[in-house]
Amino acid sequence: MMTTINTLGLAALLTLAGIPAFGADLATTTFRDHVDGEGNISLPADARASWVHLGSWVVNDAEAPGAGFHDVYTQPEAAQAYRDSGEFADGTVLIKEIRGIESAEKTTGPALWAGEPQLWFVMVKDAQGRFDGPHWGEGWGWALFKADNPDVNVSESFESTCMGCHVPAQQTDWVYVEGYPTLQ
Ligand code: HEC
Repeated sequence: MMTTINTLGLAALLTLAGIPAFGADLATTTFRDHVDGEGNISLPADARASWVHLGSWVVNDAEAPGAGFHDVYTQPEAAQAYRDSGEFADGTVLIKEIRGIESAEKTTGPALWAGEPQLWFVMVKDAQGRFDGPHWGEGWGWALFKADNPDVNVSESFESTCMGCHVPAQQTDWVYVEGYPTLQ
């Protein structure tokens, strides 16, 4: 409780001094708007309109486990904090939106582009260990939403649905940072 008061007090002080207290603001907003008191993660609605685009992946093989266009977004403050410190700040939310692949010959050449959304993978940075349920592990909350019912997290758990595939990125806080020019 003391820590919370001190953090908020510091944020207020910095704001008064005209210094934006990004870290504090980010965590406050995230754990108010995108995570409830029990650690349930919801899909942020406004990412494509107001968050920053970190980068894209395309897995152009219909049989592959991750087939589709992958666009990754985060809050503008979170991207700035990472560029400043090289670490994901408390309250950082990463969204990976999966879309189908459209293709046709354009005047540029054989073009691929993103079709309708299918899935959203969401990671929420919890640097303070607030939650320890099945969807929280290794400093992050992990969730999966489907386009036909975006209100429900359909991930079984961090361990069974997400962890195995993210082990190769363990050294970079479980994030595939090499795909994100906006963080450099
Ligand atoms: C089939 C393997 C696989 C599974 C399962 C998987 N991921 Fe990923 N994830 C990846 C790979 C590889 C990337 C980056 C490259 C890409 O998207 O092709 C990635 C990227 C992400 C990103 C973008 C940020 C980053 O880490 O680079 C988020 C967010 C994410 N995954 C969340 C999750 C969550 C949450 C789960 C479980 C619900 C999950 N992933 C399950 C392989 C997987």
